[in-house]
Amino acid sequence: MREIILSSKNLCKSFANNGGQNHVLDHVTLEIYEKDFTVIMGASGSGKSTLLYCLSGMDSITSGAVYYRQQEFSHYSEREMAALRAVEFGFVFQQSHLVSHLTLMENIVVPGYLARGNRFASGKRKKKEKAENVKLRALELLELMNIADAKDRLPSQVSGGEAQRAAIARAVISEPGIIFADEPTGALNRKNTEEVLNLLTKLNQQKQSVLMVTHDIHAAARADRLLYLDDGRISGEMTMSKFEPQEARNREVQINAWLSAMEW
Ligand SMILES: Nc1ncnc2c1ncn2[C@@H]1O[C@H](COP(=O)(O)OP(=O)(O)OP(=O)(O)O)[C@@H](O)[C@H]1O
Ligand SMILES: [Mg+2]
Repeated sequence: MREIILSSKNLCKSFANNGGQNHVLDHVTLEIYEKDFTVIMGASGSGKSTLLYCLSGMDSITSGAVYYRQQEFSHYSEREMAALRAVEFGFVFQQSHLVSHLTLMENIVVPGYLARGNRFASGKRKKKEKAENVKLRALELLELMNIADAKDRLPSQVSGGEAQRAAIARAVISEPGIIFADEPTGALNRKNTEEVLNLLTKLNQQKQSVLMVTHDIHAAARADRLLYLDDGRISGEMTMSKFEPQEARNREVQINAWLSAMEW
């Protein structure tokens, strides 16, 4: 049986709109599985980012419930939510959002320090981890992301692709249960897109659960499960085998056909 890492029941989200209500998410019930690379696709404005923010507790929900490992967190206070996020959730956005006056290394270790000894920390991280261990892990990640040479530079002194790789290192420093990525390659050129996708794929091969929103069929080909969001409702799903580079083209063809059936 596959473990459910994240789920929602009848998740609704509305925004006030000129005196009325804009119902963006309409009773979304879904399950995201551990170790999966799940991708959410759908037309612009269908609610993909909103869904990601509601599932990660970054945004409040209007009604329904959201669960992390069967534990409902939709009623958590800001403080409890921040603590859960710090330990269990990693985030990557279209822009890297690195802190401009901190070096890449500093940007990566800070969330690692914040997650230590947090009450949501499980297993080996329950005890306050030594700062030295966080630093060692940051150095390993910098190597893995191929940006070790740039570790002492400020975000303004590295390329967009390097900054985005640092943002991925920052997202995984606290060894989160799941990484949320909203169009992580949306602002990158082809080469950097490939590097970022390869990193996410590599992390997923190491059993990291990933939930990514994308418009890009090429990026979506990394997924082993795809969900289609249509006007705030999940209207389709497709599962695939784990990504193999030699099948990339074939996977894109399959996704294209699926998207056509979804009237993308
Ligand atoms: N903070 C907000 N206040 C009011 N309306 C919002 C807010 N955030 C999103 N919306 C509205 O919710 C709808 C869904 O937005 P969302 O950003 O989730 O779409 P999306 O599927 O991510 O689109 P895109 O592919 O363009 O990024 C849109 O109509 C948007 O205008
Ligand atoms: Mg969006």
